[in-house]
Amino acid sequence: MDGVLVSTEIYHFKAWKRLADTLGISIDEAFNENLKGVSRSVCIDLILKHGGVEKTQAEKDALAAKKNAWFLEYVQTEITPANVYPGVIDFLQALKRQGIKTAIGSASKNAPLLIDKLGIRDYFDAIVDGNMITKAKPNPEVFLKGAEMIGVKPSQCVVFEDAISGVEAAKNGGMHCIGVGSEKKLTKADFCIQSFTEMTVERLQML
Ligand code: G1P
Repeated sequence: MDGVLVSTEIYHFKAWKRLADTLGISIDEAFNENLKGVSRSVCIDLILKHGGVEKTQAEKDALAAKKNAWFLEYVQTEITPANVYPGVIDFLQALKRQGIKTAIGSASKNAPLLIDKLGIRDYFDAIVDGNMITKAKPNPEVFLKGAEMIGVKPSQCVVFEDAISGVEAAKNGGMHCIGVGSEKKLTKADFCIQSFTEMTVERLQML
């Protein structure tokens, strides 16, 4: 969802950077690639490790809560249905017309809130979010659960992903994967698109 369907990944980055700054840890967009698609608690561990800082579990929980409060602040003030990327709604409507099932597989615990705020719930047959999974991408749990919920074999699923860990999760689950972003970064994807305006049902069925 984040960074694939909607431009919310920039707000996660803004909140993570704000948190890292308070700890005297510097993170940039290149480092942020590691935070995409992984759970909140794994992100905390990655940032602390990057800065060589150690914290107790209680302190980590407090840091995670702080980041989430900032993220929610951005969601409330800055995110509207206009944040849905170009071409996404047209493509989802085309899939519906063809009877092709769709699911969201997100590591985010905020996914249900965002889906409602963006008004995209009705386009999906199933939603798997960070509250329902225990293993972070590149573990395929999130996608396997989605496939099970819509009753489709993994080999017949196509995952759209913007994160390296997400592409790996799709492949680890025996699924096809279309990268949303640079081919140089998402090297394991079957192919990459830069925008959903490039996507058609025919192109999907080629996989
Ligand atoms: C988590 C992470 C965020 C990551 C996102 C992926 O979301 O915080 O860095 O990019 O999953 O969708 P959270 O549960 O904190 O919303």
